[in-house]
Amino acid sequence: MDATEVDSVKHTWESVKHNEVDILYAIFKAYPDIMAKFPQFVGKDLEKIKDSGPFAVHAGRIVGFFGEYITLLGKESTQPAIKTLLNEMGQNHKGRGIPKTQFNEFKTAVMSYLSTHGDGYNAHYFDDVFDKMYFVIFSNL
Ligand code: HEM
Repeated sequence: MDATEVDSVKHTWESVKHNEVDILYAIFKAYPDIMAKFPQFVGKDLEKIKDSGPFAVHAGRIVGFFGEYITLLGKESTQPAIKTLLNEMGQNHKGRGIPKTQFNEFKTAVMSYLSTHGDGYNAHYFDDVFDKMYFVIFSNL
């Protein structure tokens, strides 16, 4: 990814990074099968749990992880850190039985959210971000 692309992605993410709850809500709303993998949320009414403390905690972790990945983009020195982070995450999710299809659903939902809420959103750039992230994660699944 060149500097223009990295700067654009960081700028767009900056504009939505505090919307963790909204983003997780959009993912669960579009893909209830993803929500069903969370022991503490399975079978519950999304509209009722979305304003709860546990929902905010999870949104912060999951969306925060993606944000951390974006923060580390663009500097050669941080590449080993990114790989370690993604490999650990891939191993954790393998253990939870999360398939690639669900990761791809997650991508579709996040891209859709960004297309309507992200400042300066460029679909091609975010496609690249997810491809690079999933290249490492998928090697662990
Ligand atoms: C944790 C499911 C994708 C980041 C979890 C947990 C589940 C889960 C069940 C454990 C929650 C608990 O503590 O009970 C899924 C499913 C996904 C998905 C079904 C389908 C796409 C992602 C993605 C990211 C992510 C794309 C990051 C961009 C995290 C993080 C944690 C977590 C950071 C907490 C740390 C950990 O336990 O690994 N996920 N996840 N997840 N997930 Fe995911």
